[in-house]
Amino acid sequence: MCGIVGYLGKRQATPILLDSLSKLEYRGYDSAGVAVIEDGKIRVTKKVGYLNQLKQALKDDQAVGVTGIGHTRWATHGAPNEVNAHPHLDCTGRIAVVHNGIIENYLALRERLIECGHTFKSDTDTEVLAHLFEENYAGDLKQAVSNGLKEVEGSFAIAVISLDDQDTIIAARKDSPLIAGIGKGESFLASDIPAVLEYTRDILVIEDNELVVLNGSGVELSSLIDGSTIKREPIVVKWDVRSAEKSGYEDFMLKEIFEQPHAIRETMMGRSYQGRLVLDEIKLSDKDIKAIDKVFVVACGTSYHAGLVAKYAIESWTRIPVEIDIASEFRYRDPILDDKTLMISVSQSGETADTLAGMRHAKEQNAIVMAITNVVGSTLSREADGVLYTHAGPEIGVAATKTMVAQMMALYLLALYLAQVRKSISLEGCRRILRELRGLDVMVQEILDDEVELGLIQQYADKHFDKSDFLFIGRGVGYPVALEGALKLKEISYIHAEGYAAGELKHGPIALVEPRVPVVAVACEGHVYEKVLSNIHEVKARGANVCAVASKGDKDIGKYADEVLYVPRTSEILSAVPAVVPLQLMSYYIAKKRGCNVDQPRNLAKSVTVE
Ligand code: G6P
Repeated sequence: MCGIVGYLGKRQATPILLDSLSKLEYRGYDSAGVAVIEDGKIRVTKKVGYLNQLKQALKDDQAVGVTGIGHTRWATHGAPNEVNAHPHLDCTGRIAVVHNGIIENYLALRERLIECGHTFKSDTDTEVLAHLFEENYAGDLKQAVSNGLKEVEGSFAIAVISLDDQDTIIAARKDSPLIAGIGKGESFLASDIPAVLEYTRDILVIEDNELVVLNGSGVELSSLIDGSTIKREPIVVKWDVRSAEKSGYEDFMLKEIFEQPHAIRETMMGRSYQGRLVLDEIKLSDKDIKAIDKVFVVACGTSYHAGLVAKYAIESWTRIPVEIDIASEFRYRDPILDDKTLMISVSQSGETADTLAGMRHAKEQNAIVMAITNVVGSTLSREADGVLYTHAGPEIGVAATKTMVAQMMALYLLALYLAQVRKSISLEGCRRILRELRGLDVMVQEILDDEVELGLIQQYADKHFDKSDFLFIGRGVGYPVALEGALKLKEISYIHAEGYAAGELKHGPIALVEPRVPVVAVACEGHVYEKVLSNIHEVKARGANVCAVASKGDKDIGKYADEVLYVPRTSEILSAVPAVVPLQLMSYYIAKKRGCNVDQPRNLAKSVTVE
């Protein structure tokens, strides 16, 4: 996730671009840059690190110019360094581009452009756009951008300036956010509304597959698909800047829950080609993969729960035995690993002290170490032999939501890739799972769009927010989902909650069951479904109120559970993704009802870099 901005008007562009970028730093902050048209040339300044580094660099020496674009980066393709920072230029230095998103087919485009004689400077996917527009330029920048984008697969919000059309910014969007701000004799462009609220409250929200031209006469919208003109009235934004950063959501956590379909899409993007997974980034040869005889998954907190889901997927799809451990335990035990062991460290931040120590512990024993992380350039990613990034974008709420869903997606991809290489699943079988993985974003969206379901969860919260204990139960992948449901509730509402493997109930926790202890049962379709039903019977018989998370179309569950939260049907192993969403919402609404600060719960930290 990155942030892009643009300014065109009568004022000096640089201070406005820097100010707008400062409102977008939450979208990424490993490097930043601006490009401003000055005296017949495009002057680009980029710096690695927080935006402040760029501000310092420009403090006493700024381009004199009234048209410019800027970018704050959250690296996806290419390390966070100055060369890879945006804006990127074409060969002639006459076109500059900033981009948020992922160009899926950038390697193919890059090869073709190199064959046509273009020279690349960076490792980014974005640079292909600058060269592509250069290649398509025949006197009309808008046409060059629109023709070039026809060849692009993936997601993008872009802004382009050119020396050949100095009073214009061209921008376009597909699957990445973009807005234009309309001022008096000036126009603004940004990934998000807060970036321009200081200057205007008249906002034009750009939709997917739209192109926008900013020039002296205002803002013109057209379709990227057929070039037709689009008329849309700007909205007048009345929110304050703080709530605008949350895009109108009350809390970052809620915003991030609603960003989950996007996080899923971004994590899937660019990782398959013609029905086969392509995961070169993990840097494991087919030979290495075929030699693996054991997998360890090591993580903390919510990442550990995502790791637990991976155990089910890896064992079932690859038949390789999987051990999973909490990092703070793993680092101090004497596990048996060697160069045929694949050790997967899962960490949103990539900086969790215990997870890092766990990885180093495995490295000492020559295991192949792999990181699943959301932060490019994090310590975990630097020290691992290979990395699979989750592209969830920065998560501000301390309680992990969208990053967990993205971790599960990355782990499913990794598990399926191992199966594809080892041929433990037929090609057709791999394709089927891949198709199902591709459908998960829509399923999560369906839950989030279902007002009736959201209403039910809120009613449930109203009914139970004052309880002091909760029990979450599940089997199979429903077990880690139950653990996560309990953890979320504990973290943000301070209610005591236990997550249990439903079959373990009878060995202890059932003693806690009584009418005052609500039970939440994860009971999606699958080979252990009937068993979970029996466990629901057991707790009902002891007077518990039971809320079940079940698959849509399940006609029986309503006879047993007091409340049912239905989620779209998918295959058993993948069902952890839709099933976790109602539980995130449940803890959110309960915590809100209790007046808790959901984004910054007491005693917790987003990233625990100490032991
Ligand atoms: C902290 C956070 C949790 C997170 C855990 C692991 O405890 O509050 O939300 O799951 O760290 O963090 P990581 O960055 O390694 O995923």
